[in-house]
Amino acid sequence: TGHVTLDPGYVNTGACTSAITYIDGDAGILRYRGYPIAELAEKSNFLEVSYLLIYGELPTQAQYDEFAEKIRRHTLLDEDLKRFFDGFPRDAHPMPVLSSAVSALSTFYQDNLDPADAESVEISTVRLLAKLPTIAAYAYKKTVGQPFLYPDNSLGYIENFLRMTFGLPAEPYEVDPAVAEALDLLFILHADHEQNCSTSTVRLVGSSQANLFASISSGIHALSGPRHGGANSAVLSMLEQIVAEGGDVANFVERVKSREKGVRLMGFGHRVYKNYDPRAAIVKKTADDVLDRLGKSDQLLDIAKQLEEVALNDDYFVQRKLYPNVDFYTGLIYRAMGFPTQMFTVLFALGRLPGWIAQWREMIVDPANKIGRPRQVYTGERERSFVGMEQR
Ligand code: CMC
Repeated sequence: TGHVTLDPGYVNTGACTSAITYIDGDAGILRYRGYPIAELAEKSNFLEVSYLLIYGELPTQAQYDEFAEKIRRHTLLDEDLKRFFDGFPRDAHPMPVLSSAVSALSTFYQDNLDPADAESVEISTVRLLAKLPTIAAYAYKKTVGQPFLYPDNSLGYIENFLRMTFGLPAEPYEVDPAVAEALDLLFILHADHEQNCSTSTVRLVGSSQANLFASISSGIHALSGPRHGGANSAVLSMLEQIVAEGGDVANFVERVKSREKGVRLMGFGHRVYKNYDPRAAIVKKTADDVLDRLGKSDQLLDIAKQLEEVALNDDYFVQRKLYPNVDFYTGLIYRAMGFPTQMFTVLFALGRLPGWIAQWREMIVDPANKIGRPRQVYTGERERSFVGMEQR
């Protein structure tokens, strides 16, 4: 069968060329379309960054307005899709609800599924960006038994999502600008990260010419695992566990180092960054700012900082170049905003959506694109003859 080079986990195997995101893991550099992440975090907003990732350039004012307006016009879910949420148990985790609803979107827009049709790709892009916040908010509302709110298109993208999540029909809801601003920033930081597990999943599924909804739904599943996007909620569970066990940070680090089964320092380490994750540096500062502005203090933030301090000065972590990643401090911010732990990875998905879409679209028009089909090295039995059941 020819020579096969094994590379479990694709540590050193490139599968595509891409002009979207640049990472230098040793130097701790991240750029979208050439723009440093810190500049975008400071000066841009999530919709503008989405446009940049998907179309390759920063929009003019007119382009931005048109893009935002198109998204505003598609925020509603079909009433039939709304009923879909009734089929899940009350305590359904919002991540599988999110991926299921995105998968179901393809059944509502069956005329626009052809990956080769540019207009269909365009309208699917808009529908996804517009509807994912609505779906995410309903997935949350379901768990607390509150009525679903229709989108309010007089609000901005982030404000609309916050109102649908935390608002009630009987009461006016004032979006706290500190919360909206911080969430917008966190979405920017999550918007793309080249060929990570979920993005590679989106590309692999899409390489079979499966439609955009199917590909993104698969990406959401890939994101849900604790080694990937699920890490942000796992960090919080870890911090809570440390507090419950008396707050002994050094002892927890010892357990990590002794490789106790299943004990990792969640929110630490990265396949590509062998230096401080540039996103984590921004998130850490934001955590301080947001908690300050909301007038909240959180014992868990103190624990997180102690953990970082201990780990960064410990040989185990230094030798392996393990630094805090983007997920280490995000959960603390989401918590201060009022999101339950279950929603953290859903928030990651909302942020990552434009990156997935941009990567899928780049792949679809890439002349070098073929169906993804890795090889293997077979280690099973040689040929043998079938034995009847009575003789086994
Ligand atoms: N705590 C303790 N030890 C660790 C950790 C950790 N968080 N991460 C890696 N190591 C050790 C690992 O045991 C191995 O040691 P040794 O060489 O002695 O066996 C070495 O460091 C290399 O680790 P690896 O598992 O081979 O590295 P990887 O590139 O396959 O894994 C990772 C990367 C992110 C999955 C891993 O660092 C990890 O599980 N981190 C915790 C989960 C996490 O925070 N994930 C979020 C990643 S960033 C955002 C995202 O993608 O969603």
